[in-house]
Amino acid sequence: MCGIIGYTGHLDALKVLLQGLEQLEYRGYDSAGIALLSGKGDDKFLIKKAGPVATLKDACEKLDVESHCGIGHTRWATHGGVNDTNAHPHIAGKVTLIHNGIIENYHNIIEKFGFRDSLVSETDTEVAARLLDYYYSKDPYEAIRKTIREITGSYAFCIMFEDIHDKIFCVRNVSPMVAAHMKDGSFVASDVTAVIPYTNRYFVIPEYQIVTLTKEEIFVQDLEGHPVSPEILEVNWNIEAAQKNGFPHYMLKEIHEQPEALRNTITPRLKDGLPDFSEDGIPDEVLAECEKISIVACGTAMYAGMVGKALIEPIIKIPVSVNIASEFRYESPLVDEKTLVLIVSQSGETIDTLAALRLSKECGAKVLSIVNVKGSTIARESDYVFYTHAGPEIAVASTKAYMVQLASLYLIGCRMAMIRGKFTENTARDFISRLSGASTAVEKILEHKEQIKTAASVVAKAKDAFFVGRGLDYAFSLEGSLKLKEISYIHAEAYAAGELKHGTIALIEENTPVVALATQDHIYGKTISNIREVRARGAFVILITKTGAEIPEDICDIHFAVPMSHDRFTVFPVAAILQLLAYYTSDMKGLNVDKPRNLAKSVTVE
Ligand code: F6R
Repeated sequence: MCGIIGYTGHLDALKVLLQGLEQLEYRGYDSAGIALLSGKGDDKFLIKKAGPVATLKDACEKLDVESHCGIGHTRWATHGGVNDTNAHPHIAGKVTLIHNGIIENYHNIIEKFGFRDSLVSETDTEVAARLLDYYYSKDPYEAIRKTIREITGSYAFCIMFEDIHDKIFCVRNVSPMVAAHMKDGSFVASDVTAVIPYTNRYFVIPEYQIVTLTKEEIFVQDLEGHPVSPEILEVNWNIEAAQKNGFPHYMLKEIHEQPEALRNTITPRLKDGLPDFSEDGIPDEVLAECEKISIVACGTAMYAGMVGKALIEPIIKIPVSVNIASEFRYESPLVDEKTLVLIVSQSGETIDTLAALRLSKECGAKVLSIVNVKGSTIARESDYVFYTHAGPEIAVASTKAYMVQLASLYLIGCRMAMIRGKFTENTARDFISRLSGASTAVEKILEHKEQIKTAASVVAKAKDAFFVGRGLDYAFSLEGSLKLKEISYIHAEAYAAGELKHGTIALIEENTPVVALATQDHIYGKTISNIREVRARGAFVILITKTGAEIPEDICDIHFAVPMSHDRFTVFPVAAILQLLAYYTSDMKGLNVDKPRNLAKSVTVE
């Protein structure tokens, strides 16, 4: 949450910052701002505006300044409303500051240091800027050290001092921040997307270490002033991967990238047609010896976990729980040395998920994370990492990351079943060959989108929608419902089909859209009966079955058949249909598909 970019070097800082903010806008988009040091005297320029980066860009048009050092920010508001004053950067005396995170004790700091009358915004960030200025007298390191000793909470700070013309200072705790140096100068950013146009080599700023960016180099020191050499990482994708490439929205592009993402995630883990994780460094004992599995994640990643549970538990026959990461710490989780905790996270930075990971380790559990972003905090702190290879996901609504999280859970489930003697080699081979067919099944859905647009035109007029299914279909419907509500703002709920008549069916009115998933043979008849119940009450039924299923007369208004013959694997094409349904509904309503209101990618506050 909140995008951070800082640059010092030979290039035009204004240009670099605005370009970086555009790349980072998916992290927060209620306001944006920049501050530049002119390099002459103590001149500094501050422009900040409520609204998207485009508004800031317009406001910068007339700015006539030569600057090679500056910081920029896109905000996702936590403390204080969305307005120009609360936007970052914040200036206090000689200090200019941008911040991602939450300073928990800012009220105490205001009282302790008597800042109340000098504050102009409602933000916790301005309090930190005041504190830095209070402690600053010529020695930036001393001021930073003293400030972070006073502060509790999470933060990624980028700081400029008025009388130090070409340097940026950074420090962080929990909130992510990376830095990179190349011949044109030094960069700091909340994630690599902003530095990719310049270099693919970067490092993650270590927690509680002070990083100094100069034109010529970046140096890192611990709080005692000892130099530190952070590990240099390399991104294996380029700037094209983070652009729309002709698609009207990132979300549509990312939906279309799913077949390739599936192949990239599955194929490197196959040896002779069977799953093998030796390259990932995941030993079989971890999968063989656990007595229970706890899948912990948030949002879409948690819904991938629900599918994982519905798949793995009946095969392996050990308890699999799915825990909402933000609740995990407060529900006395039953996690111990015999538990394998599977953390699922696209960004690898979701703070609730990270906190759950840390607690799981304290409880003695082994932690295996399924993560998309290389070098992210969750990846670094886990015992084992299973990287998904989706490439950068820019649209706030997750699509391709979900798809590869599913594929990863399927691979892990299959390997577990093999080594625990639940699958014979032949069963495992057959499982993998069907899993490998998922990309083709998704491709087929992407080739026939017209009917999905028709369904979307009905859904777009509704105020409520329901997604129903039984067993695995119920697990799939949870994500379908989340996708629709987050980008179309239509109230949507997922229900186990048999549960409707215990209350929810009261909400079904004439033409209420019900997306009914019936891809599981052993419960097909029962699901069809539940669909009849909503149909009898006037629901507009969008039915999804496997190809070749027998469709009773007048059971639905629109029917999609997914090209998957085995029940376990229907989630892949079903997910593509549900994602496209949400996408077209949002687009038809004229909404901002990629940046839905109130949301941000990478939730780094609790
Ligand atoms: C919804 C969505 C979110 C994320 C959730 C976890 O489309 O993207 O629900 O899935 O915030 O994020 P990660 O996977 O980065 O931990």
